[in-house]
Amino acid sequence: GYLSATAEQGTSQANVEAEPAQTVTILYGSQTGNGRGVASELAAKAKAQGYAVNLASMGDYKVRQLKQETLLLAVVSTHGEGEAPDDALELHKFLASKRAPKLDNLHYSVLALGDSSYEFFCQTGKDFDERLTALGAKAIQPLVECDVDYEEAAQQWQSDLLESIKPLIQTSSASVVSIGSSTNTGESQFTKQNPFAAELLVSQKLTGRDSDRDVRHVEIDLGESELSYQAGDALGVWFSNSEVLVEEILTQLSLDGATEVTVAKESLSLKQALIEKKELTQLYPGLVKGWAELSGDEILLKLVEDRELTRQFVLNHQLIDLATKYQVTVTPVQLIELLRPITPRLYSIASSQSEVESEVHLTVALVEDERDGGTRFGGASQFLAQAEEGAEVKVYVEPNSHFRLPENPDTPVIMVGPGTGVAPFRAFMQERAAQGVESDSWLFFGNPHFEQDFLYQTEWQQYLKDGSLTRIDLAFSRDQAHKIYVQDRIAEQGEEVWKWLEAGAHLYICGDAERMAKDVHQALLDVVVKFGGKTAEEAEAFLEQLRSDKRYQKDVY
Ligand code: 2AM
Repeated sequence: GYLSATAEQGTSQANVEAEPAQTVTILYGSQTGNGRGVASELAAKAKAQGYAVNLASMGDYKVRQLKQETLLLAVVSTHGEGEAPDDALELHKFLASKRAPKLDNLHYSVLALGDSSYEFFCQTGKDFDERLTALGAKAIQPLVECDVDYEEAAQQWQSDLLESIKPLIQTSSASVVSIGSSTNTGESQFTKQNPFAAELLVSQKLTGRDSDRDVRHVEIDLGESELSYQAGDALGVWFSNSEVLVEEILTQLSLDGATEVTVAKESLSLKQALIEKKELTQLYPGLVKGWAELSGDEILLKLVEDRELTRQFVLNHQLIDLATKYQVTVTPVQLIELLRPITPRLYSIASSQSEVESEVHLTVALVEDERDGGTRFGGASQFLAQAEEGAEVKVYVEPNSHFRLPENPDTPVIMVGPGTGVAPFRAFMQERAAQGVESDSWLFFGNPHFEQDFLYQTEWQQYLKDGSLTRIDLAFSRDQAHKIYVQDRIAEQGEEVWKWLEAGAHLYICGDAERMAKDVHQALLDVVVKFGGKTAEEAEAFLEQLRSDKRYQKDVY
């Protein structure tokens, strides 16, 4: 509806239309879907204003195309010690390499997502910004760095950009071009901010009575939502905090739950605010710092000066631990301001719609930690474990285009999924069975005890029997004196694993990122060295090639 710069400079409307439309390229790279969320929102707004938009995951973006771009808007998160998310790795590396082209014609802006509790806060975003400038591109506005509560800053970035790109680019009839398969389920009206109120059908214990773990099989009805998902996607689950926990916190802090407070312009009781609006089961460093100051506790004040100690503390404690251990006087308003908004949790989907239609299944481990003060539970897992049949659960689909069955059904698959990491492989097997896929499939599964913890045992046995699962190798870690893990089974079967890889097998790992995925990666390197006759370096390159060919995919957390 407004005059573009080109039009103002005297180009007639007809001329503008005759030229190929300039596109706004919007790229995202993130592990949790936050980056995708911000990028798709921006894409929708830009499209509504008449821009031609190219929206893609960095993982699906062809780096060669970069030199043709004129306007690039990027959202990228940072992980661990300043690492780029998986889908951004290649572009990140490319920008820093000698192959990177001059980008004199490019205008860009980067939104960096991060967590200020880490030393290398927003490092990947900083890298992108630096490299793009170094290659001659012009920043439309300075790098925007966002902390965990990124929503407001992200909104601001979007509206600032939509203003500042006006003089840079002409509008055309609205068109969103999507590359790759990144937005295949992005069109549902239900999103993270506008989730679907689904019905819980089943929450049933999978582990045995004597198991150390409580792992649930959860079934949710997506009803008439028309939400759709693919095997490999995740489900975002909103939850409310336990009333028992909230009462405990209120008592510890001597606060009256009936006090009226305001959260995001909504007025409600303190108790309700704590149950529905605030993150209580995951701490963040800022809160520990605030608590240290409020309490004046010497030890806590000392601890928060050390970033690494604070990070460890945050991982192993909850608000209730702070409230119990460190006496503070805090007003309802102070408490509400200290706490972050509650955020949904992502679970790898354990079903395929070819099999369960409008249902979605999850495999949920109840997070529980024994403390002196009692057992502390994870927010979402406790909510799902305690929810009764018929309960309402607010959900949305978080697509994961980087965890997909092979396009060619003749391709064999190797799936490594100990613990709840087995979830997406149940989805894979349902999908393969429904499509009548006959290529070989191999599952590595592990858990503490065969008797107690063999998740979905009868289903795997059925798949083996009817031939849809070719092999299963099991690692029950505590059924013998020494630990046996999935990577030990991979090592034992190294020759066969190598044969499968040579036959073109795709390799999938799901589960614990901290230790398991790293140990499995090492076991795979050893297999490639031993049976592929490669040096350690060549083995690294081999797995890297598999990764870049999308034959080695991870869904780890
Ligand atoms: P453990 O708890 O007996 O040590 C699922 O959690 C399974 O993964 C459990 O059997 C657990 O064994 C195992 N596990 C723990 N650490 C692991 C690692 N580094 N690599 C692979 N599996 C691991």
